[in-house]
Amino acid sequence: MTNTELILEAKKARERAYAPYSHHSVGAALLTKSGKIYHGCNIENAAYTPTNCAERTAFFRAVYEGEREFSKIAVVGAPKGMEADLLTAPCGVCRQVMMEFCDPDSFEIVMAKNPDEYQIYILDELMPLGFG
Ligand code: THU
Repeated sequence: MTNTELILEAKKARERAYAPYSHHSVGAALLTKSGKIYHGCNIENAAYTPTNCAERTAFFRAVYEGEREFSKIAVVGAPKGMEADLLTAPCGVCRQVMMEFCDPDSFEIVMAKNPDEYQIYILDELMPLGFG
């Protein structure tokens, strides 16, 4: 699975975003070590704090299905109906969820605007001295 393919999957996932409050749609595509993809979108709530980010939606779907080993995640976010012109960096809560299931020295976060413009970080760069 190339980064380009994974980013296209994250873009697809973005179409499912439920974001009537921020109007910011985010999609994520999480790749397991066995090569399966789990998609996630952000799911907002009128009370705001119950909102779930795209990354966590993808992780929780995968973990429910019994997955425990992950190699990378692609994330694409932008105002609804628009192409991304900024990279979406996972929030602190999502980084902590990644810490629970991923090796900080090898798990990759692919932050993308589109399949040709992206940056890759390992989890340890985004969550130095993370609690695990
Ligand atoms: N959001 C994500 O889904 N992932 C991120 O990495 C950053 C933020 C969502 C949460 C909320 O629904 C919207 O984007 C605006 O913050």
